[in-house]
Amino acid sequence: MTPPSNAHGLRDCRVLITAGPTHEPIDAVRYLGNRSSGRLGVALAMASSKRAAATTLLLGPCPVPADLGDVELHRFHTTADLQDELARYWPRHDLLIMAAAVADFRPVRRGSLTDKLKRGEGIRLDLEPTPDLLASLSSMTRPGQTRVGFALEPHDRLDESARAKLVQKDLDAIVANPLETMDAHDITARLYRRDGTMTQAPPHMGKTSFAVWLLDQLTELIHPSNAAT
Ligand code: CTP
Repeated sequence: MTPPSNAHGLRDCRVLITAGPTHEPIDAVRYLGNRSSGRLGVALAMASSKRAAATTLLLGPCPVPADLGDVELHRFHTTADLQDELARYWPRHDLLIMAAAVADFRPVRRGSLTDKLKRGEGIRLDLEPTPDLLASLSSMTRPGQTRVGFALEPHDRLDESARAKLVQKDLDAIVANPLETMDAHDITARLYRRDGTMTQAPPHMGKTSFAVWLLDQLTELIHPSNAAT
């Protein structure tokens, strides 16, 4: 079978992908999390690595596939862990795909996390906003580095919210998908670019197929001359 014409278009690109949820501790055994499975980010990492791109995956607390091939893997649990890893790894990469479902808020930490709260204690959780990791990378980004975000939105706000986040987070592109995509097996998404253009992906793609589709789009974004015909 003939490979797509841009199958090797990321050969000299170092790709950093984040995936999975964050877990924000409440006490020694409990956390605030979300239903992200990490499957799309893992599929993106495998697809990137198959294109001969040096690929690093920062993966949250979710199952790790048995065989990640040549993908370099680092784990995180909290938003703070992921923030540290991005500060460490982003400077040595060219493309960031931020598929992680990062918490928007976390419990305010009081005292140590070695105790377990008791039911009788009348628990009240105080939450604080987490830093916007993607937006804060803007000041750490060199010319030539490309940052791509994700936006999980209700259908009726998909377009408006994706375009707003693209600007607020100073991104090169953003993938917008409806709320139902979280933990689902397929995805219906759109890609919005900094220049205002938007491409709709074929509906209900499996996550592996979508990963290939998205990498084709990003290869074209980075190297317009490699566009598949
Ligand atoms: N993101 C991030 N840091 C956060 C929250 C989100 O870097 N604290 C990233 C996500 O990984 C994603 C993008 O920002 O790539 C959009 O995430 P989303 O949750 O849709 O947007 P928020 O900025 O959190 O806005 P809101 O949830 O209020 O819509």
